[in-house]
Amino acid sequence: MDVERIGEELPLLEGIRTTRAIRRLKPDPVPAELIRKVCEAGTYAPSGGNRQPWKFIAVTEPERREWVAVRYRRVFHDYIAPALEAAEAPDFPERKRRNMRAALHLADHLHEAPVHLFVAGWKRRGVEQVQGLFPAIQNVLLACRAVGLGASLTTLHTSFREELDPWLGLPPEIPTCALLPIGWPIGRYGTPPRAPVDEKLFWERYDPERDRR
Ligand SMILES: Cc1cc2nc3c(=O)[nH]c(=O)nc-3n(C[C@H](O)[C@H](O)[C@H](O)COP(=O)(O)O)c2cc1C
Repeated sequence: MDVERIGEELPLLEGIRTTRAIRRLKPDPVPAELIRKVCEAGTYAPSGGNRQPWKFIAVTEPERREWVAVRYRRVFHDYIAPALEAAEAPDFPERKRRNMRAALHLADHLHEAPVHLFVAGWKRRGVEQVQGLFPAIQNVLLACRAVGLGASLTTLHTSFREELDPWLGLPPEIPTCALLPIGWPIGRYGTPPRAPVDEKLFWERYDPERDRR
């Protein structure tokens, strides 16, 4: 695999339009160089004062992924269980049901995802700066799309962060913000379901009459 060349051909806007949450992943390993490449894309993100607060921690050892997965699964089932039940009702919107099922699949198979990429970042004046990390996180997701890796953005791990962050070696002033399970996709990339831009774009003034959601 030519890591330098892989993913370089995909047009930017096409990549943006065809990046969606890929939560069904093969357990096959991902070359470390490819993880380095998608993290490098993350480092090109903008940040306040160009402070570049991000830290990427790639967890790949099976026992360590199991450690994370056990806790993620527990939190998912504890907090999301009522929503899961509701999603199986016949009148529940199909699109949302599929999303819930995919999230459940991820929770139950997280240990199989070959890379658990954590994104953490410096606090500023004692306050967590998640907004300083999300541009980098989105760059990583787009880079995964470009090189053919599947990835999704999760934040459920924040429920067990007190235990997780020290386990990752992170001091309190660099909390984890996101967990991106990454691996080779089982499904395909495709255009994610989104409302048309004309429902979201307003010229000069917001119009509540036109805003249906
Ligand atoms: C801030 C944020 C937090 C999220 N947390 C989770 C999560 O904890 N678990 C999960 O499975 N997906 C999580 N997601 C992914 C969303 O569910 C996903 O982006 C959304 O369903 C759209 O999916 P699609 O791009 O495949 O259409 C999160 C997304 C964002 C932006």
